[in-house]
Amino acid sequence: MELLKKKILENGKALNSEVLLVDSFLNHQVDVELMNEIGKEFARLFKDAGITKVVTIESSGIAPATMTALHMGVPMVILKKSKSAILSEDVIQTEVFSFTKRTSYQLTLKGKFIEKGDKVLLIDDFLAQGEAAFGGANIIKRAGGEVAGIGAVISKNFQPGMKRLRDAGYRVESLAPVSHMDENVIEFEDDDE
Ligand code: G4P
Repeated sequence: MELLKKKILENGKALNSEVLLVDSFLNHQVDVELMNEIGKEFARLFKDAGITKVVTIESSGIAPATMTALHMGVPMVILKKSKSAILSEDVIQTEVFSFTKRTSYQLTLKGKFIEKGDKVLLIDDFLAQGEAAFGGANIIKRAGGEVAGIGAVISKNFQPGMKRLRDAGYRVESLAPVSHMDENVIEFEDDDE
């Protein structure tokens, strides 16, 4: 997605070979017009997949997932990262380890929000190791849904997540597949159009 790549090059910052800072438009301050275009693009890419629900992981996936659900005309469900006291019954959980943040959390869903037969599009801001996506897919399947697609706003394809998910048979689309990074250097793969 050219608009997104341009934004990343102009406003993103590669801190090193691993970490891309995008907090001025994606995961701290949010460019809502860009999010709208991102939602439109995911809706276009997955228009024939029969999607009945968009699912994301709090917190930075919420903005792109909301816009995607809006453009697809389906509900959006947020997987929580902890079990709150009021989330008592019918809860499905799985542990996810974040390599970037070096912590684990309990990905959590109230089961009734994904029904048997739901065809789910899982949207997240970053795809890195793939742990969050595998955790999300695990929960969706246990709730009775089918993972019909996975969409990453940005994928760091030099890290293993993209390959792991595709090897597992998932259809994965990235709007900005990064092939290489270094301090102040960001390069994209050109196979996403
Ligand atoms: P994985 O989910 O693909 O396995 O990746 P990983 O554990 O490495 O990433 C976990 C968290 O780190 C995610 O945020 C993800 O968005 C974020 N992250 C990964 N790589 C980058 C990066 O290059 N730049 C930035 N800015 N973030 C990155 P999270 O813990 O889910 O936090 P939230 O922002 O969604 O609340």
